[in-house]
Amino acid sequence: MDYPNLTRPLTVKSTTFPNRVVLPPIQTNYAASNGETTERHLNFYANIARNQVGLTIVGATGVSPVSRLGDHAFCLYEDRHVESGRALFAAIKQGGSVPAVQINHGGRVLSPELAGGRVIGPSAIASPAVSNTPRALTTGEVEEIVLQFVRTAENAKKAGAELVELHGAHSFLLNQFLSPVSNQRTDRYGGGTENRARIVREILTGAREKVGADFPIGLRLSVEEYVDGGLGLEESLDMIRMFIEDGLDVVHVSGGGIDSGGRMIKAANKGDLIRLAGEVKKAVSIPVIAVGGVTRLEQAEEAIQAGLADMVAIGRGLIADPELVSKSLAGRSGDVVECNSCLQCFMRGEAPGLTCSLNDKL
Ligand SMILES: Cc1cc2nc3c(=O)[nH]c(=O)nc-3n(C[C@H](O)[C@H](O)[C@H](O)COP(=O)(O)O)c2cc1C
Ligand code: SF4
Repeated sequence: MDYPNLTRPLTVKSTTFPNRVVLPPIQTNYAASNGETTERHLNFYANIARNQVGLTIVGATGVSPVSRLGDHAFCLYEDRHVESGRALFAAIKQGGSVPAVQINHGGRVLSPELAGGRVIGPSAIASPAVSNTPRALTTGEVEEIVLQFVRTAENAKKAGAELVELHGAHSFLLNQFLSPVSNQRTDRYGGGTENRARIVREILTGAREKVGADFPIGLRLSVEEYVDGGLGLEESLDMIRMFIEDGLDVVHVSGGGIDSGGRMIKAANKGDLIRLAGEVKKAVSIPVIAVGGVTRLEQAEEAIQAGLADMVAIGRGLIADPELVSKSLAGRSGDVVECNSCLQCFMRGEAPGLTCSLNDKL
Protein backbone atom coordinates (compact mmCIF):
# COMPACT_ATOMS: atom_id res chain seq x y z
CA MET A 1 0.00 0.00 0.00
CA ASP A 2 1.10 3.59 -0.67
CA TYR A 3 0.80 6.35 1.88
CA PRO A 4 0.69 9.53 -0.23
CA ASN A 5 -1.04 11.65 2.42
CA LEU A 6 1.04 10.48 5.37
CA THR A 7 4.37 10.93 3.64
CA ARG A 8 3.72 14.56 2.62
CA PRO A 9 5.79 16.98 4.77
CA LEU A 10 3.97 19.66 6.76
CA THR A 11 5.40 23.01 7.81
CA VAL A 12 4.15 24.87 10.86
CA LYS A 13 5.95 28.15 11.47
CA SER A 14 9.70 27.42 11.54
CA THR A 15 9.26 23.66 11.84
CA THR A 16 8.86 21.14 9.02
CA PHE A 17 7.62 17.66 9.88
CA PRO A 18 9.04 15.16 7.37
CA ASN A 19 5.78 13.20 7.45
CA ARG A 20 2.41 13.21 9.22
CA VAL A 21 3.00 10.43 11.79
CA VAL A 22 3.26 11.50 15.43
CA LEU A 23 4.37 9.73 18.58
CA PRO A 24 1.86 11.21 21.05
CA PRO A 25 3.10 12.02 24.54
CA ILE A 26 3.85 8.84 26.49
CA GLN A 27 4.92 9.33 30.11
CA THR A 28 7.29 6.41 30.63
CA ASN A 29 8.50 7.08 34.19
CA TYR A 30 11.97 6.18 32.90
CA ALA A 31 13.68 9.48 33.89
CA ALA A 32 15.88 9.91 36.97
CA SER A 33 14.28 10.72 40.31
CA ASN A 34 15.61 14.30 39.96
CA GLY A 35 13.74 14.68 36.64
CA GLU A 36 16.76 14.41 34.30
CA THR A 37 16.71 12.10 31.31
CA THR A 38 18.38 8.66 31.54
CA GLU A 39 19.75 6.27 28.95
CA ARG A 40 16.55 4.22 29.10
CA HIS A 41 14.36 7.32 28.78
CA LEU A 42 16.38 8.74 25.87
CA ASN A 43 16.50 5.38 24.06
CA PHE A 44 12.73 4.89 24.30
CA TYR A 45 12.12 8.06 22.27
CA ALA A 46 15.18 7.76 20.02
CA ASN A 47 14.22 4.20 18.95
CA ILE A 48 10.82 5.40 17.82
CA ALA A 49 12.09 8.67 16.30
CA ARG A 50 14.61 6.90 14.07
CA ASN A 51 11.90 4.75 12.49
CA GLN A 52 10.32 7.42 10.30
CA VAL A 53 8.05 9.12 12.81
CA GLY A 54 7.65 12.76 11.74
CA LEU A 55 7.03 14.27 15.18
CA THR A 56 8.08 12.77 18.52
CA ILE A 57 6.44 14.33 21.58
CA VAL A 58 8.14 13.52 24.89
CA GLY A 59 5.43 12.61 27.45
CA ALA A 60 3.99 14.72 30.27
CA THR A 61 6.95 16.72 31.60
CA GLY A 62 6.88 18.47 34.98
CA VAL A 63 6.70 22.27 35.23
CA SER A 64 7.62 22.27 38.95
CA PRO A 65 8.80 19.83 41.64
CA VAL A 66 5.19 19.12 42.69
CA SER A 67 3.60 18.71 39.25
CA ARG A 68 4.95 15.44 37.90
CA LEU A 69 2.87 12.34 37.14
CA GLY A 70 5.42 9.85 38.44
CA ASP A 71 8.44 9.78 40.73
CA HIS A 72 10.60 9.18 37.63
CA ALA A 73 8.85 11.59 35.26
CA PHE A 74 10.98 13.89 33.12
CA CYS A 75 11.04 17.58 34.11
CA LEU A 76 12.12 20.84 32.49
CA TYR A 77 11.68 23.44 35.23
CA GLU A 78 15.39 23.88 36.13
CA ASP A 79 18.66 24.58 34.33
CA ARG A 80 19.93 21.06 35.00
CA HIS A 81 16.86 19.67 33.20
CA VAL A 82 17.65 21.91 30.22
CA GLU A 83 21.16 20.44 30.12
CA SER A 84 19.87 16.85 30.19
CA GLY A 85 17.05 17.69 27.75
CA ARG A 86 19.64 18.75 25.15
CA ALA A 87 20.83 15.15 24.76
CA LEU A 88 17.27 13.83 24.59
CA PHE A 89 16.02 16.26 21.93
CA ALA A 90 19.26 15.95 19.95
CA ALA A 91 18.86 12.15 19.82
CA ILE A 92 15.30 12.50 18.51
CA LYS A 93 16.43 15.03 15.91
CA GLN A 94 19.34 12.86 14.85
CA GLY A 95 16.85 10.08 14.18
CA GLY A 96 15.16 12.30 11.58
CA SER A 97 12.11 13.27 13.67
CA VAL A 98 11.05 16.67 14.99
CA PRO A 99 11.66 16.75 18.77
CA ALA A 100 8.81 18.10 20.89
CA VAL A 101 7.69 17.95 24.50
CA GLN A 102 4.40 18.07 26.36
CA ILE A 103 4.44 20.14 29.55
CA ASN A 104 2.09 19.39 32.40
CA HIS A 105 0.92 19.81 35.98
CA GLY A 106 -1.11 16.93 37.45
CA GLY A 107 -3.21 19.06 39.83
CA ARG A 108 -5.91 17.34 41.86
CA VAL A 109 -5.33 13.79 40.57
CA LEU A 110 -1.77 13.59 41.96
CA SER A 111 -0.99 11.53 45.04
CA PRO A 112 0.00 13.59 48.14
CA GLU A 113 3.56 12.22 47.78
CA LEU A 114 3.93 13.58 44.25
CA ALA A 115 2.14 16.81 45.20
CA GLY A 116 4.61 17.59 47.99
CA GLY A 117 2.17 16.74 50.77
CA ARG A 118 -0.85 18.80 49.76
CA VAL A 119 -2.85 18.17 46.63
CA ILE A 120 -4.09 21.31 44.86
CA GLY A 121 -6.71 22.05 42.22
CA PRO A 122 -8.89 24.84 40.85
CA SER A 123 -11.53 24.14 43.54
CA ALA A 124 -11.83 21.97 46.64
CA ILE A 125 -13.60 19.23 44.69
CA ALA A 126 -12.19 15.69 44.55
CA SER A 127 -11.76 13.84 41.27
CA PRO A 128 -14.14 10.86 41.06
CA ALA A 129 -11.02 8.76 40.46
CA VAL A 130 -9.05 9.60 43.64
CA SER A 131 -9.97 10.04 47.29
CA ASN A 132 -8.13 13.29 48.16
CA THR A 133 -10.01 16.56 48.19
CA PRO A 134 -7.62 19.20 46.85
CA ARG A 135 -6.99 22.60 48.35
CA ALA A 136 -8.25 25.34 46.02
CA LEU A 137 -5.39 27.44 44.65
CA THR A 138 -5.36 31.14 45.52
CA THR A 139 -5.42 33.58 42.61
CA GLY A 140 -1.75 34.38 43.26
CA GLU A 141 -0.86 30.68 43.12
CA VAL A 142 -2.63 30.30 39.76
CA GLU A 143 -0.55 33.23 38.47
CA GLU A 144 2.58 31.45 39.72
CA ILE A 145 1.58 28.24 37.87
CA VAL A 146 1.10 30.28 34.68
CA LEU A 147 4.69 31.49 35.09
CA GLN A 148 5.91 27.92 35.69
CA PHE A 149 4.39 26.77 32.40
CA VAL A 150 5.86 29.79 30.59
CA ARG A 151 9.33 29.16 32.05
CA THR A 152 9.12 25.46 31.14
CA ALA A 153 8.08 26.27 27.56
CA GLU A 154 11.09 28.59 27.31
CA ASN A 155 13.32 25.84 28.74
CA ALA A 156 11.95 23.37 26.17
CA LYS A 157 13.09 25.64 23.37
CA LYS A 158 16.48 26.23 25.03
CA ALA A 159 16.97 22.47 25.31
CA GLY A 160 16.33 21.92 21.59
CA ALA A 161 12.65 21.01 21.36
CA GLU A 162 11.11 22.38 18.15
CA LEU A 163 7.51 22.39 19.38
CA VAL A 164 6.02 22.58 22.85
CA GLU A 165 2.61 21.12 23.67
CA LEU A 166 0.55 22.26 26.68
CA HIS A 167 -1.29 19.35 28.30
CA GLY A 168 -4.89 20.50 28.52
CA ALA A 169 -6.35 16.98 28.41
CA HIS A 170 -6.92 13.80 30.44
CA SER A 171 -8.12 15.38 33.74
CA PHE A 172 -4.81 17.06 34.63
CA LEU A 173 -4.54 20.62 35.99
CA LEU A 174 -5.21 22.67 32.82
CA ASN A 175 -8.12 20.35 31.95
CA GLN A 176 -9.36 20.80 35.54
CA PHE A 177 -9.46 24.58 35.01
CA LEU A 178 -11.23 24.29 31.63
CA SER A 179 -13.91 21.95 32.99
CA PRO A 180 -17.15 23.29 34.50
CA VAL A 181 -17.21 20.27 36.84
CA SER A 182 -13.81 20.63 38.53
CA ASN A 183 -13.61 24.44 38.29
CA GLN A 184 -16.15 26.27 40.43
CA ARG A 185 -13.95 29.29 41.17
CA THR A 186 -15.37 32.76 41.58
CA ASP A 187 -12.24 34.75 40.63
CA ARG A 188 -11.15 35.55 37.06
CA TYR A 189 -10.06 31.91 36.49
CA GLY A 190 -13.53 30.43 37.04
CA GLY A 191 -17.13 30.88 35.86
CA GLY A 192 -18.04 31.19 32.16
CA THR A 193 -16.14 29.76 29.21
CA GLU A 194 -13.81 32.73 28.89
CA ASN A 195 -12.82 32.68 32.57
CA ARG A 196 -12.21 28.93 32.66
CA ALA A 197 -10.10 29.24 29.51
CA ARG A 198 -8.06 32.10 31.00
CA ILE A 199 -5.23 30.04 32.51
CA VAL A 200 -4.44 28.50 29.12
CA ARG A 201 -4.78 31.87 27.37
CA GLU A 202 -2.32 33.47 29.78
CA ILE A 203 0.15 30.61 29.34
CA LEU A 204 -0.10 30.88 25.54
CA THR A 205 0.48 34.63 25.59
CA GLY A 206 3.31 34.40 28.11
CA ALA A 207 5.01 31.50 26.34
CA ARG A 208 4.75 33.25 22.98
CA GLU A 209 6.66 36.25 24.36
CA LYS A 210 9.45 33.94 25.46
CA VAL A 211 9.71 31.50 22.51
CA GLY A 212 9.18 34.05 19.73
CA ALA A 213 6.74 34.30 16.85
CA ASP A 214 8.19 31.43 14.78
CA PHE A 215 8.18 28.66 17.37
CA PRO A 216 5.14 26.32 17.21
CA ILE A 217 3.01 25.96 20.33
CA GLY A 218 0.48 23.13 20.53
CA LEU A 219 -2.29 22.20 22.94
CA ARG A 220 -3.75 18.80 23.72
CA LEU A 221 -7.40 18.93 24.71
CA SER A 222 -10.00 16.43 25.82
CA VAL A 223 -12.70 18.00 23.68
CA GLU A 224 -15.23 15.58 25.24
CA GLU A 225 -14.51 14.89 28.89
CA TYR A 226 -16.94 11.94 29.04
CA VAL A 227 -18.10 12.94 32.55
CA ASP A 228 -21.56 14.24 33.51
CA GLY A 229 -21.71 18.00 33.10
CA GLY A 230 -18.14 18.07 31.76
CA LEU A 231 -16.61 19.86 28.82
CA GLY A 232 -18.22 18.95 25.49
CA LEU A 233 -17.36 19.53 21.86
CA GLU A 234 -19.25 22.81 21.36
CA GLU A 235 -17.65 24.59 24.32
CA SER A 236 -14.28 23.09 23.45
CA LEU A 237 -14.55 24.59 19.96
CA ASP A 238 -15.32 28.00 21.48
CA MET A 239 -12.22 27.67 23.63
CA ILE A 240 -10.04 26.53 20.73
CA ARG A 241 -11.09 29.63 18.77
CA MET A 242 -9.95 31.79 21.71
CA PHE A 243 -6.65 29.91 21.90
CA ILE A 244 -6.07 30.47 18.18
CA GLU A 245 -6.52 34.22 18.77
CA ASP A 246 -3.75 33.87 21.36
CA GLY A 247 -1.42 32.25 18.83
CA LEU A 248 -2.07 28.50 19.18
CA ASP A 249 -0.46 26.71 16.22
CA VAL A 250 -1.52 23.05 16.51
CA VAL A 251 -4.40 21.32 18.29
CA HIS A 252 -4.09 17.70 19.38
CA VAL A 253 -7.55 16.24 19.89
CA SER A 254 -8.17 13.71 22.64
CA GLY A 255 -11.04 12.86 24.97
CA GLY A 256 -11.71 11.68 28.50
CA GLY A 257 -9.00 11.04 31.07
CA ILE A 258 -8.48 9.88 34.64
CA ASP A 259 -11.93 11.16 35.66
CA SER A 260 -13.74 9.23 32.93
CA GLY A 261 -12.34 5.85 33.98
CA GLY A 262 -11.84 3.51 31.05
CA ARG A 263 -13.76 5.67 28.59
CA MET A 264 -10.72 7.26 26.97
CA ILE A 265 -9.33 3.93 25.80
CA LYS A 266 -12.77 2.62 24.81
CA ALA A 267 -13.33 5.78 22.76
CA ALA A 268 -9.82 5.47 21.30
CA ASN A 269 -10.31 1.85 20.34
CA LYS A 270 -13.65 2.58 18.67
CA GLY A 271 -12.20 5.42 16.61
CA ASP A 272 -14.37 8.00 18.43
CA LEU A 273 -11.40 10.27 19.17
CA ILE A 274 -10.49 10.41 15.48
CA ARG A 275 -14.11 11.27 14.68
CA LEU A 276 -13.87 14.13 17.23
CA ALA A 277 -10.68 15.34 15.55
CA GLY A 278 -12.66 15.49 12.31
CA GLU A 279 -15.23 17.75 14.00
CA VAL A 280 -12.45 20.06 15.20
CA LYS A 281 -10.81 20.03 11.76
CA LYS A 282 -14.09 21.22 10.19
CA ALA A 283 -14.17 24.18 12.58
CA VAL A 284 -10.57 25.48 12.58
CA SER A 285 -7.83 26.26 10.09
CA ILE A 286 -4.76 25.35 12.17
CA PRO A 287 -3.32 21.80 11.85
CA VAL A 288 -5.16 19.11 13.80
CA ILE A 289 -3.55 15.98 15.24
CA ALA A 290 -5.86 12.96 15.65
CA VAL A 291 -5.16 9.99 17.90
CA GLY A 292 -6.74 6.82 19.13
CA GLY A 293 -6.70 3.14 18.34
CA VAL A 294 -4.41 3.24 15.30
CA THR A 295 -2.44 0.00 15.20
CA ARG A 296 -1.86 -0.21 11.43
CA LEU A 297 -0.42 2.59 9.32
CA GLU A 298 -3.20 2.34 6.73
CA GLN A 299 -5.69 3.59 9.37
CA ALA A 300 -3.61 6.76 9.73
CA GLU A 301 -3.47 7.22 5.95
CA GLU A 302 -7.25 6.80 5.74
CA ALA A 303 -7.88 9.39 8.47
CA ILE A 304 -5.91 12.03 6.57
CA GLN A 305 -7.41 10.96 3.25
CA ALA A 306 -10.90 11.39 4.77
CA GLY A 307 -10.01 14.93 5.89
CA LEU A 308 -10.31 14.12 9.60
CA ALA A 309 -6.83 15.37 10.55
CA ASP A 310 -3.54 16.81 9.28
CA MET A 311 -1.38 14.45 11.34
CA VAL A 312 -2.12 11.16 13.11
CA ALA A 313 -0.60 10.02 16.39
CA ILE A 314 0.08 6.38 17.21
CA GLY A 315 0.72 5.67 20.89
CA ARG A 316 0.38 2.05 21.93
CA GLY A 317 1.03 0.90 18.36
CA LEU A 318 4.54 2.39 18.59
CA ILE A 319 5.13 1.11 22.13
CA ALA A 320 4.39 -2.41 20.93
CA ASP A 321 6.45 -2.00 17.74
CA PRO A 322 8.74 1.05 17.44
CA GLU A 323 9.30 0.02 13.80
CA LEU A 324 5.60 0.13 12.88
CA VAL A 325 6.06 3.07 10.49
CA SER A 326 9.36 2.06 8.89
CA LYS A 327 8.20 -1.52 8.31
CA SER A 328 4.89 -0.36 6.79
CA LEU A 329 6.50 2.26 4.53
CA ALA A 330 8.91 -0.43 3.30
CA GLY A 331 5.96 -2.64 2.28
CA ARG A 332 6.43 -4.96 5.28
CA SER A 333 3.25 -4.18 7.18
CA GLY A 334 2.76 -7.92 7.69
CA ASP A 335 5.83 -7.88 9.98
CA VAL A 336 4.38 -5.26 12.35
CA VAL A 337 3.85 -6.49 15.91
CA GLU A 338 0.35 -5.16 16.41
CA CYS A 339 -0.77 -3.79 19.82
CA ASN A 340 -3.51 -6.06 21.21
CA SER A 341 -4.88 -3.49 23.68
CA CYS A 342 -4.06 -5.64 26.72
CA LEU A 343 -3.43 -2.36 28.67
CA GLN A 344 -0.40 -3.65 30.56
CA CYS A 345 1.31 -0.36 29.64
CA PHE A 346 -1.27 1.54 31.72
CA MET A 347 -0.67 -0.53 34.85
CA ARG A 348 1.96 0.17 37.44
CA GLY A 349 3.84 -3.14 37.44
CA GLU A 350 6.57 -4.46 39.71
CA ALA A 351 9.25 -3.35 37.28
CA PRO A 352 9.78 0.43 37.39
CA GLY A 353 8.42 2.37 34.43
CA LEU A 354 6.48 1.48 31.32
CA THR A 355 6.31 -2.16 30.17
CA CYS A 356 4.55 -3.81 27.22
CA SER A 357 3.44 -7.44 26.92
CA LEU A 358 4.64 -7.51 23.29
CA ASN A 359 7.90 -5.55 23.54
CA ASP A 360 10.48 -7.07 25.88
CA LYS A 361 13.14 -4.53 24.86
CA LEU A 362 11.61 -1.76 27.01
C1 LIG B 1 1.82 4.30 28.92
C2 LIG B 1 1.08 5.49 28.42
C3 LIG B 1 1.47 6.76 28.84
C4 LIG B 1 0.79 7.90 28.36
N1 LIG B 1 1.23 9.15 28.73
C5 LIG B 1 0.59 10.24 28.24
C6 LIG B 1 1.08 11.54 28.52
O1 LIG B 1 2.11 11.73 29.16
N2 LIG B 1 0.39 12.61 28.02
C7 LIG B 1 -0.74 12.44 27.25
O2 LIG B 1 -1.32 13.43 26.80
N3 LIG B 1 -1.20 11.22 26.95
C8 LIG B 1 -0.56 10.13 27.40
N4 LIG B 1 -1.00 8.89 27.03
C9 LIG B 1 -2.10 8.77 26.06
C10 LIG B 1 -1.54 8.61 24.65
O3 LIG B 1 -0.81 9.74 24.24
C11 LIG B 1 -2.66 8.35 23.61
O4 LIG B 1 -3.48 9.49 23.54
C12 LIG B 1 -3.52 7.16 23.99
O5 LIG B 1 -2.70 6.03 24.31
C13 LIG B 1 -4.46 6.77 22.83
O6 LIG B 1 -3.73 6.56 21.65
P1 LIG B 1 -3.36 5.06 21.12
O7 LIG B 1 -4.67 4.35 20.97
O8 LIG B 1 -2.65 5.29 19.83
O9 LIG B 1 -2.52 4.44 22.17
C14 LIG B 1 -0.32 7.75 27.48
C15 LIG B 1 -0.70 6.47 27.07
C16 LIG B 1 0.00 5.35 27.52
C17 LIG B 1 -0.42 4.00 27.00
S1 SF4 C 1 1.07 -3.26 26.80
FE1 SF4 C 1 -0.64 -4.07 25.62
S2 SF4 C 1 -1.91 -2.22 25.20
FE2 SF4 C 1 0.09 -1.49 25.83
S3 SF4 C 1 1.22 -1.20 23.91
FE3 SF4 C 1 1.73 -3.24 24.64
S4 SF4 C 1 0.26 -4.60 23.62
FE4 SF4 C 1 -0.53 -2.51 23.43
